[in-house]
Amino acid sequence: MQLFANYSKNNSWEKGTSIQLSISCLQPINVHILMSKFHYGVCQICFSWLTEFYFLCSSNGALHAIEMLVSLVKKEIQKHKEQKSFQEPQDFIDFYLLEIEKRKNDPTSTYDEENLAQDIHDLFVAGTETTSSSLKWAILLLANRPDIQDKTYKEIEDVLCSSSFSYQDLKKLPYTNAVLHEIQRLKYLLLIGVPRQTAKDVKIRGFLIPKGTIVIPNLRSALLDPEHWESPKEFNPKHFLDQDGHFVAREEYLAFGAGKRARVCLGEQLARMEFFIFMVNLLRAFRFQLPPGVKELNEEPVAAITTPPHPYKVCAVPRCSSS
Ligand code: HEM
Repeated sequence: MQLFANYSKNNSWEKGTSIQLSISCLQPINVHILMSKFHYGVCQICFSWLTEFYFLCSSNGALHAIEMLVSLVKKEIQKHKEQKSFQEPQDFIDFYLLEIEKRKNDPTSTYDEENLAQDIHDLFVAGTETTSSSLKWAILLLANRPDIQDKTYKEIEDVLCSSSFSYQDLKKLPYTNAVLHEIQRLKYLLLIGVPRQTAKDVKIRGFLIPKGTIVIPNLRSALLDPEHWESPKEFNPKHFLDQDGHFVAREEYLAFGAGKRARVCLGEQLARMEFFIFMVNLLRAFRFQLPPGVKELNEEPVAAITTPPHPYKVCAVPRCSSS
């Protein structure tokens, strides 16, 4: 894994030239790209994004969409309150409202309805684009590789035998599991990770990262690290298989974040389940083929805050009619 940082000779962080450090991604360190107060290099990327994001928000109504989402969420919170469903809590809103009630006499409590609405908004934002882009990448990569798609389908059919299935069945499908991991390794979805800030001074490989430094993980540097992956830039399910075809979990697989204090995706388990269940259902129902005359779909990502594929067309041929 790499640390990208601007670091001056006198051990202070400032605007200046960039250096790259390599650390083993097996080390429990959650510092990957470092920047202090938006200094040069990384800063340029961040500012250009923010500007782009601002333009997007103001020009195509994204801000309006955010407001609309939050207002829908607030209506739902109101409904929960009126129905007093938090007395027998069933969902996130109920549990959160209960927590607000429990802590109403605690002046330090941060539990309030505004935060609840914002949390739900965050879960929606973090959970929709990531999952849908993973699925788009999966279909694109498998349409470009019919051999891998057919092998995955065969394993699914051999093991599940057309019966219904659950997430637990993933353990019985090592090749499918490896393919799904490889999709998310090769086409990691965030251009950079979620920024963090150091709560105290930290020393890392002799470099001082002062308290208050903004730290942005560059997970892609681990996911594509040539020291850890046999063919990092190629789609190769063998990255997650041993010689006997068993699935191998890899520490370098950081698609959901890194760090010893679980600085990872809050929706990881949900995302893994969704991805598996959607993909198995899709592959059972369709064979994804390139449209006539198309030799290969473009595998370059769109460069934005997330990195989905460019829009593409694919033929979804129903399995029953193709057999
Ligand atoms: C394929 C799907 C997904 C991928 C690849 C993904 C990846 C990530 C990554 C890399 C982070 C940053 C972790 C860090 O360094 O702090 C993150 C954060 C987060 N993700 Fe996901 N995610 C996915 C789906 C979801 C879903 C389905 C949800 C919720 C329903 C979700 C909710 C969140 C939240 C709330 C955070 C911020 C956590 C925090 O600030 O501590 N994600 N995700």
